Amino acid sequence: MTLPLLGTVSLADLQAGIEPRLAQVETEMRRMIEADFPLIADINQHLLRMRGKMFRPTLVLLADEATGGRSSHGATLAAVIELIHLATLVHDDAVDHSVLRRGMPTINALFSHQVSVIMGDFLYSRAVVELVRYGDLSALAILARVTNEMTIGEMRQLLAHDPLAFTEEQYDLLIKAKTASLISGACEVGALAAPPQQRRALARFGEKLGMAFQIVDDLLDYTADETVTGKPSGLDLREHKVTLPLIYALPRFSIAERRGLEALLRNPEPADAEIADVVAAVAGHGGLEQARERAQRLVVQAEADLAVLPETPARETLRASLAYVLERRR
Ligand code: IPE
Ligand code: IPE
Ligand code: MG
Ligand code: MG
Repeated sequence: MTLPLLGTVSLADLQAGIEPRLAQVETEMRRMIEADFPLIADINQHLLRMRGKMFRPTLVLLADEATGGRSSHGATLAAVIELIHLATLVHDDAVDHSVLRRGMPTINALFSHQVSVIMGDFLYSRAVVELVRYGDLSALAILARVTNEMTIGEMRQLLAHDPLAFTEEQYDLLIKAKTASLISGACEVGALAAPPQQRRALARFGEKLGMAFQIVDDLLDYTADETVTGKPSGLDLREHKVTLPLIYALPRFSIAERRGLEALLRNPEPADAEIADVVAAVAGHGGLEQARERAQRLVVQAEADLAVLPETPARETLRASLAYVLERRR
């Protein structure tokens, strides 16, 4: 495995070569969501202030460059993808009852659940309008499929609250649908003009990268501080969501630990101490470590998919994005 040779990779490392194009992506997004209606305009202002990592647009642009594209429309497609991502976050925070996103209050906390539902639809439908205007049926086909798949993923998530019934296999289906589908779509859409073999390889690369990305997100929910991630920690257990660290650790839980978990799952509003106890049990039985190893294996598999691409700096940056996903702290 060659990845460790990359050392520490930061988001800035991935974005260094494409900063001007990322700035264009932001301008495009601003244009795409513009609205006359006052409440929507207010929410847009709030959303534009809460800038995310722009990881998916970064992948679109890198995939474009790695396949020799330097397409003049790359920034538009990248903006559409970030817009779809933003729409899903607005809906996801309402579904998850989350009050913090990117270090700022969520739309559901600031306005209401109803406003979040409508606003998510507004953002998503603006993305569709832009895609239709863009006029490339392949891009529309990929992203229409992906957004539909993401709803299935979020629905799977709603049902993933019984740790005894929720297996690793089901977890895989869930994270493929809710997260890896869009990340894979970002890589594929960036390579639309490339030969089919390269385009398919990038889609496969993105799927494994996306699965690793969500596993790490689920790990950060157990381990990270909200001042770093900009979103609440321990929220998955609070919301009774079963994720990979718990799936791995559960068979090794003592009877007392199982009782603690069952009590948490029965409690509609678990106390911080209850959550901390389950986190400690999961960590103590190696659940975090095992989940991290799974993410590492996915990253190694993803690296192999890059072999069909020509040797370019952009391909190396895509390779570096694998290390970044494992190392990221937010
Ligand atoms: C959050 O995505 C949702 C997940 C799929 C885990 P990001 O971690 O990319 O969020 P932002 O866009 O940087 O805020
Ligand atoms: C990812 O799941 C959400 C989407 C793909 C929309 P999470 O619920 O874990 O994402 P965060 O932690 O809220 O960002
Ligand atoms: Mg969430
Ligand atoms: Mg999460």
